[in-house]
Amino acid sequence: MSKIHAAITAVNAYVPDYILTNQELETMVDTNDEWITTRTGIKERHILKGEGLGTSDMAVPAVKGLLEKRGIGADEIDLIIFCTTTPDRVFPATANILADKIGAKNAWGYDLQAACSGFLFGLATGSQFIESGKHKKVLVVGGDKMSSITNYEDRATCIIFGDGCGAVLLEPNDEGNGIMDSILKSDGSGVQYLHQKAGGSMRPASHETVDAREHYAYQEGQAVFKFAVTNMADVAAEIMERNHLSSDDVSWLVPHQANKRIIDATANRTGLSADKVIINIERYGNTTNATIPLCLWEWESKFKKGDVLILAAFGGGFTWGSVYLRWAY
Ligand code: UT7
Repeated sequence: MSKIHAAITAVNAYVPDYILTNQELETMVDTNDEWITTRTGIKERHILKGEGLGTSDMAVPAVKGLLEKRGIGADEIDLIIFCTTTPDRVFPATANILADKIGAKNAWGYDLQAACSGFLFGLATGSQFIESGKHKKVLVVGGDKMSSITNYEDRATCIIFGDGCGAVLLEPNDEGNGIMDSILKSDGSGVQYLHQKAGGSMRPASHETVDAREHYAYQEGQAVFKFAVTNMADVAAEIMERNHLSSDDVSWLVPHQANKRIIDATANRTGLSADKVIINIERYGNTTNATIPLCLWEWESKFKKGDVLILAAFGGGFTWGSVYLRWAY
């Protein structure tokens, strides 16, 4: 019998109805559609509106739709890994909240925090439980309500982020498809360039932190851009090299959607032609943990069994990485 790999056997996603366009942002901050489009590639993003709604409220429809597509019940899920930077609460884990909301009574779960690389970290860790034989059905969710930590008075960050959630199911595959390799990296010295200043144990919430707008994502865009361009491109090229994959062997590049210019640099470095590069940043912006599953969801009908996919991401932390997988259906 050939080696067991963890394969994606279903994918689904959910984005909220409300669309925040560049034109609406023009009325909120000193910006314009031309600047946003040329500097980022973003035209619009979805925003979760409504009192008391959190990231799990986007995960529920995403996962319910996924289970329906796969034709299984929530009680069949063994493990939920919820990759998010905007959990419903500091604790308990959003994975627990989701399990309760969907009736995943037999699952355990945890949240995974690796900023924009979270979904790749989740895929890599989730696959270990399948490969080891410990579990048969692992749900990896990537979702963020970035609007909850976005300062809509800061034109440098508010134009980037959007809300959304995607999910995949991992199951054992003995046909040589599934997750074949991953390279994951972290560098905590990057904290200074991209972080949330308050709300953690180091600087708990207070009137002062709220007044100083310290509960929003803080980013030094140019510095992050430089690290992202180099590292995301390098790690995608590295995983191809070590698996002896040429650009002809790769069917699809699935890059984290942070900035169209970073995506283009990664595509150039890997030598892939534009028709193989999945891009939907213009409609969703940077949804952090949701960008890659949103891409998989939208392109699912184009994938063929055995297609080689290279996933790549870069995010706060810093964190970055790449996953090589063969599509299983
Ligand atoms: O996903 C996780 C990791 N995050 C990323 O990968 C994001 C990486 N960074 C970026 O994508 C880019 O740095 C940004 C899109 C955030 C910013 O683009 P940039 O080309 O690096 O712009 P900049 O910060 O260097 O600013 C250039 C100019 C500045 O004006 P001056 O000083 O040259 O007069 C900014 O004040 O553009 C100005 N600017 C804007 N102008 C119009 C900044 N934001 C805006 C805006 N509209 N929204």
